[in-house]
Amino acid sequence: MDALEILREASRRIYENVKDLPGTDLAAGDFGRGAGGDISRNIDIVAEKTVLEYLEEAGFECVVLGEECGRVELSDNPSGYVIMDAIDGSANAVRGVPFFCSSLAFARGERLSSVTAGVITDLTGGQSYWATSGGGAFYEGKKIGVRHGDPIYKIVSVNTSGASRELLERLQPVFENNHTRHFGANALEMAMFARGLVDVLIDIRGKIRIQDIAAGYLIAREAGGLLLDEHMRPLDSDLSYETRISFVAAANRAMLDKTVPKI
Ligand code: IPD
Ligand code: CA
Repeated sequence: MDALEILREASRRIYENVKDLPGTDLAAGDFGRGAGGDISRNIDIVAEKTVLEYLEEAGFECVVLGEECGRVELSDNPSGYVIMDAIDGSANAVRGVPFFCSSLAFARGERLSSVTAGVITDLTGGQSYWATSGGGAFYEGKKIGVRHGDPIYKIVSVNTSGASRELLERLQPVFENNHTRHFGANALEMAMFARGLVDVLIDIRGKIRIQDIAAGYLIAREAGGLLLDEHMRPLDSDLSYETRISFVAAANRAMLDKTVPKI
């Protein structure tokens, strides 16, 4: 099986193993701080364990970079890295708010730009988004693309969770002139952007970890999206646990310039 098939099967198993947990006391069990710095909840641990056990069972030669488990070397001769956020949107999942997903990516090298396969699965219903480098992006088997042109309602996702007053002031023009949203799971919002449901994504809090973005980065790029860092340069980064990312995504430069006037 190639990397994409491995990630798709791992995601399918996550869905099977966690689908009865969201919103329950069992989901919330506290396992202390994970490698990514947040409290690991039982639902995060169940989902990660599912992936680790499957990768071992499949004999996939890789190093796992998990949000909770940290770096796990599953081979002495790895073909690359599996970048795993087994539950993105953990707060929603624990509370039972129906917006959370799994995000799995495979990278051949040590940079975001070396991601060659990505799978995001909506864990509220099991629907899956995936992409391979140069092979396009798909939702439930159908090719997807970002939305060009002016929609009736322009939806701009702005991540304001934990934002400072200064950041909110910088973002004020965006709030004033658009239908702004933030649903609470960055990876799933990237996937929805790739599918043309969200027009612009803005997360310039400097909080996003590599695990939150690796799969969405490839899916959005393969769907034709423009992905830039906070200096408006093409988005890229290393895969380190210390790295925190800010980014903006839009279908094209004109849409971005219209939406994000000098933030
Ligand atoms: C979180 C989500 C959320 C974002 C947070 C992330 P997690 O990921 O992506 O949208 O606002 O910064 O930490 O912790 O649920 O995997
Ligand atoms: Ca997570």
